[in-house]
Amino acid sequence: MSEFVLLSGTAHPVLSAGISRELAIPLGSCTVERFPDGEITVHLDDSVRKKEVFVIQPTSPPVNDHLVELLAFADACRRAAASRIVAVIPYFGYARSDKRGQRRDPIMASTVAALLQVSGVDQVITVDPHSPQIEGCFRIPVDTWSAVDTLALALRGRIPPQTVIVAPDVGAVRLATRYGELLDRSVVVLHKRRESATQTEVTHVVGDVRNRPVVIVDDMISTGGTIGRSIDALLASGARPDIIVVATHGLMLDGARVKLDLPSVREVIVSDSIPQAMDWPAVRVVSIAPLLADAIRRAAGLKPPRTREMTLVAAMAATS
Ligand code: R5P
Repeated sequence: MSEFVLLSGTAHPVLSAGISRELAIPLGSCTVERFPDGEITVHLDDSVRKKEVFVIQPTSPPVNDHLVELLAFADACRRAAASRIVAVIPYFGYARSDKRGQRRDPIMASTVAALLQVSGVDQVITVDPHSPQIEGCFRIPVDTWSAVDTLALALRGRIPPQTVIVAPDVGAVRLATRYGELLDRSVVVLHKRRESATQTEVTHVVGDVRNRPVVIVDDMISTGGTIGRSIDALLASGARPDIIVVATHGLMLDGARVKLDLPSVREVIVSDSIPQAMDWPAVRVVSIAPLLADAIRRAAGLKPPRTREMTLVAAMAATS
């Protein structure tokens, strides 16, 4: 008998199956139903009484549906007397709403945190949230893991020595610094000015990119606007048209492919925190199932069966 119960919402069954394989624990049986009016309900087929339950659900698009489904899971587990409920949220939607942009704006990350807690969630596991400080929105433990080591491994030995790592905005400097350390490359920062919720403009390139291949790193690719404009600015500053884009979360919305499927872009590397079903040969998907399996083991108080290096090797093996 396993020491905990693993449940999957409907957002990303493939990742859940990968985590279940890594842990050698089957996914619990449950049913998710959507009513004609859009309401969501969940039924757990087996008892979770006095058990620790891990519910895997990225709050990826459609964000609100997946979030409400996760809340329904938590509520069902709480009412069924689970001893502890851990929400495994590989992609945390609303993390970008971490402060008020202007007066009379909401802070949705805080509201999502409140909803998760009131539904019965005792702990959250997440990966590269847009801003790590969203942890401060919670009164429960938040385990923040990073896919950077796993993604950097996918680059090792494949980028020339003169390559620079580019942070497309100041917010990405922390990530870029970590990539720079892991790959032993220097970091260049772009200064981005936000024109509206969807429009940004690169005003300065801080660092030398002339005749250098570049790796642009970010926490997410949403519409591709940030990366697309970064590519334009880098090429205008003399960067070599040999660009790799790396992001933890590949939302790939609204024409992102049109902005990034360019002759100058050699590869786009993303994790599988969000389902990736695109027929786009330049996209390489690196699995974070081994990382999340280790996160779950640790949260369950079990001894991780492998070292960090072994987890990275497992990630590569699980990668398409
Ligand atoms: C913004 O600060 C984030 O780190 C990403 O750069 C941004 O959200 C990506 O969105 P898009 O692909 O729509 O530009």
